[in-house]
Amino acid sequence: MIKVFTTRKDFDHYRSTLTTQAIGLVPTMGNLHKGHISLIEKAAEENDVTIVTIFVNPKQFGPNEDFDKYPRTLDEDLARISAIALLINAKKDLVVFAPRSEEIIYPKGYSTMISVGPMTQKFEGSVRPTHFDGVTTVVYQLISITKAHTAYFGQKDVQQCLIIKKMIKDLEIPINIYIMPIVRNSEGLALSSRNQYLSDSERVEAMVLPHTLQKVEKLIRTKQDYKTFVVETLKADNKWDYLEVLDSSNFETTTDLTTELVIVAAYRAGATRLLDNILVPMNLGK
Ligand code: PAJ
Repeated sequence: MIKVFTTRKDFDHYRSTLTTQAIGLVPTMGNLHKGHISLIEKAAEENDVTIVTIFVNPKQFGPNEDFDKYPRTLDEDLARISAIALLINAKKDLVVFAPRSEEIIYPKGYSTMISVGPMTQKFEGSVRPTHFDGVTTVVYQLISITKAHTAYFGQKDVQQCLIIKKMIKDLEIPINIYIMPIVRNSEGLALSSRNQYLSDSERVEAMVLPHTLQKVEKLIRTKQDYKTFVVETLKADNKWDYLEVLDSSNFETTTDLTTELVIVAAYRAGATRLLDNILVPMNLGK
């Protein structure tokens, strides 16, 4: 059985009953799919208590973005989490904290924003300039409220992972961060709550994203000229917001010290922006 809390009073009371247990946190905006589920299962495997938060965070949406339209499916989400609860050790707690109002996370008069700096203005940040400040602010708040020991995030949002890790390091927040691999559908498209906005034809068109990343990966792994391919791809189709190969540790241009690359891309299929990335170790064949 899962425990569900929608108010601070109830959640704080529950949290005060926990003493020595290992606590895992899985922050989400709900509308759970197999990507989210993989994070929850991992957290439930590794912790005595897993807290899944479901909160569509207004601070990370820009003025013309899909905050109002973002899918809110709490009943289905609770059913999916309940199904996981049946599979884990009955002594473990699986908890959902789904604040019933914005004020529960940002009480009246709340004014602090956390900004990690230049990294938040590149790539996703160049298209969504205030997005990452909203993400770090809510993640900080969720860590403070839950006092979790480990938080679980998905590689799918690789820039988000990097920015959250930087916040944790700079602010010396005592928490471990665990990154889970990207979960894809049978065709290879990375799962995302926004995939459901796609029409049938856009869904087909969207496949250019994973296919292109795979092609760049292959060129890198076989030590061929991937840079020309990237330039030509961007030139041929104006629906790419970006397609780049970077050092995965800092999202900067690769150097001789780079040990792992990340191929990152954002592609617009109709009105929907889709993100994807692939990690490639650099010591290939050495
Ligand atoms: P949301 O988009 O709901 O995603 C919650 C978590 O699930 C994130 O860590 C995300 O990277 C991960 N995730 C999404 N799709 C995935 C996939 N296909 N495979 C693996 N993991 C996947 O990301 C957010 O919410 C918000 O920005 C949040 C961190 C909750 C702050 O509001």
